[in-house]
Amino acid sequence: MVERTLAIIKPDAVKKCVIGDVIQRYEAAGLDPIAMKMMHLSKSIAEGFYAVHRERPFFHDLTTFMSSGPSVVLILEGENAIQVNRDLMGATDPQKAEAGTIRAVHGASIEANAVHGSDSSETAKFEIGYFFPGMDFHAGR
Ligand code: CMP
Repeated sequence: MVERTLAIIKPDAVKKCVIGDVIQRYEAAGLDPIAMKMMHLSKSIAEGFYAVHRERPFFHDLTTFMSSGPSVVLILEGENAIQVNRDLMGATDPQKAEAGTIRAVHGASIEANAVHGSDSSETAKFEIGYFFPGMDFHAGR
């Protein structure tokens, strides 16, 4: 099934100048960027995005990190896009991510883990609407 997922190239990856490398990996995996913008998230925008984690002990550090510099926010479209992107990213903790995955290659820590990707179709719907309000979730490319 053709799906859409929300991806973020996080501030650590932007600082490392690997935006191009990450996008190339998306495209090579059949994940087409259909919307993309660079933005420096404010603390409150980061808090709204990660609201499901607000009770977690890492919430403050996570949202501080995500508002520490510019990110690139994308909608990726492709066959089974949500799972394909999760496989491409690897485990949340780069130390545990499979060799060759984006987080294994570019991530430094569980916080500075280079990329975010939606973890379910419900999350994808919320996350796409959060950054790209008005995008018709079910429209084609
Ligand atoms: P992400 O996929 O963007 O979703 C939530 C983020 O919280 C996660 O990647 C990590 O970067 C970050 N995080 C920080 N500490 C933890 C932790 N202990 N467990 C899970 N996620 C964490």
